This record gives sequence, structure tokens and C-alpha cells, in this order.
Amino acid sequence: MDPSKVNIPPLKDLTIDNITENVNLVNSAGNPSPRLRFLLDRLTNHLHDYARETRLSQGEWLEAINFLTATGQICTDVRQEFILLSDIFGLSLLVDSIDHPKPAGSTEGTVLGPFHTHDAEVLENGDVMAHDEGGEKLLAVCTVKDINGNPIEGVAVDIWETDSTGHYDVQHPGRDRPDGRCILKSDAEGRFFFRGIVPVPYPIPHDGPVGQLLLRLGRHPMRPSHMHFMFNKAGWDSLTTALYLRGDPYETSECLSSTLSYRVLVTNKVYSRCCLWREGVPHCGARDGG
Ligand SMILES: [Fe+2]
Repeated sequence: MDPSKVNIPPLKDLTIDNITENVNLVNSAGNPSPRLRFLLDRLTNHLHDYARETRLSQGEWLEAINFLTATGQICTDVRQEFILLSDIFGLSLLVDSIDHPKPAGSTEGTVLGPFHTHDAEVLENGDVMAHDEGGEKLLAVCTVKDINGNPIEGVAVDIWETDSTGHYDVQHPGRDRPDGRCILKSDAEGRFFFRGIVPVPYPIPHDGPVGQLLLRLGRHPMRPSHMHFMFNKAGWDSLTTALYLRGDPYETSECLSSTLSYRVLVTNKVYSRCCLWREGVPHCGARDGG
């Protein structure tokens, strides 16, 4: 762009009160798209109002700059500290709720989190998706329904959970194949079922700037036991959500603002395969005797 062609309005003598208007004037001089102009206009207004309202000191401003710099510097291909920061401020959930409004009666979404991958194996209902011998075995039997209660067939369900130590497979340096994750298809009755392990609580990565901030705020880094689910079917809105374990020690003190309301996974002990037949899960365990 030729700078001499940009029609920059004459700037006034800047004061604490008129600097916002001037910045917005300069930002709009090059005729950006209406949406970009609106977003930047609002951002400038709120940032300036924040500084004026809090009487932000230069030291505090510099501390914030250094914090954001460190947040960017610790990011890698497998670590996204900014998303973590967004999560602990509730911004991720807020944006998702605004951008994916759900009709009454539908399941609410939760944050995607940083541990979803695109290499999960496609399994059949009843298969084992977690091979951690240290975990307590879990059979999950689920049904996908529309808001009128009708089953939905052929939904691709992406599922992922940690191992019994609270780590996702991608957090293990020697990972050579996906584990604790799979993709299933719902059957004609909308059901999908799989064998994993009972979820355990785990800490978010807290050795970086976000963890230090939590420490300074007196907040813990723990997430309650949960399993992640992502539902996809052509012609339907996708859903990313999670189930949480009733009675978890962190059930009411989640470190992230991850969901508007918790959908709870209630577990029951099953002592024989007859129980599974009664539950209508005839194929479970047929292949490897588990
Ligand atoms: Fe998680």
C-alpha cells in the first residue's frame, strides 16, 4: 500500500479522554472491512477503558507485556499456552457459547482442550479403546438422540481420555500409536459403546506462565475426571462436549471454565456379562473375553 494514498485524518492534541477516538479514526482511515473495523474499534475502546478504570501503572502494563511474551514463547506444536490462558479466563467457553447457540434441550458444548488428535483409530462398538492396565475398566454405553428424543444413526463419535496417571497419550514422549482415544459410529438405535478406563482427575500443564498465574491467584491446576466426546454427522451441527464423574474431588472446583453445566457420568459396578446382556450390549467382550 502506498502510504501517501492513505487519507489519515488530522490528529488532535491527544489527551487521556480523546486518545481512544483518535486511534479508532486512524485505524479506519484505510477502509478496512466493516467487521475488522468493528472488532478493532471495540477492542481499542475496551482496552483504553480498562486502563482508565484501573489507573493502570506503567509497571503493571510492562508486567502484562512480559507475561504475554512468556505465554507465546512456551507455545510449541503440541502446547498452546494461549488457549490455556483463554480457558482459565472462561473466554474459550464464552466464544463457543456465542458462536454455537444450541436449541433448548440440547447438550451444551465444552472446550475442545489441547489434547484432541486426528489420528484416533476407527473402532467397532464394544471394542477396547484404552489399554492401560493400571486403569479401572469401564464400559460406557451411550445413545445419541435429537432434541425430540429420537435416536440418530451413523454419527461419528470421537472419544478421548487420559490414562490412569492423568496423561493423554500425546503427553508421553515415546508415543508410537494412539491410545485412550477412538472413533465410533452410532448404530440404528443411536447407541455406541466402548471399553475404556474410569477417568481420573489431572492437572493442566502448569509449569508455564498460566500455571504461575494460577499459583499467584491461589487457584489449583486440577481438572475433574472426565471424558471428551465430539459428535459429527453431515447435515447436523457438530458438538464437542464431555462427561464428568459424579463425586470427583474437583467436581465443584474445576480450574478451567470448561462448561456451562456439567453432564455427569454415573458409574456402576458390573459383575458378570449377564448384566451386559440385560443392558442390551450383546457384543461387548465377545472378541477378547474382556
Ligand atoms: Fe481433558
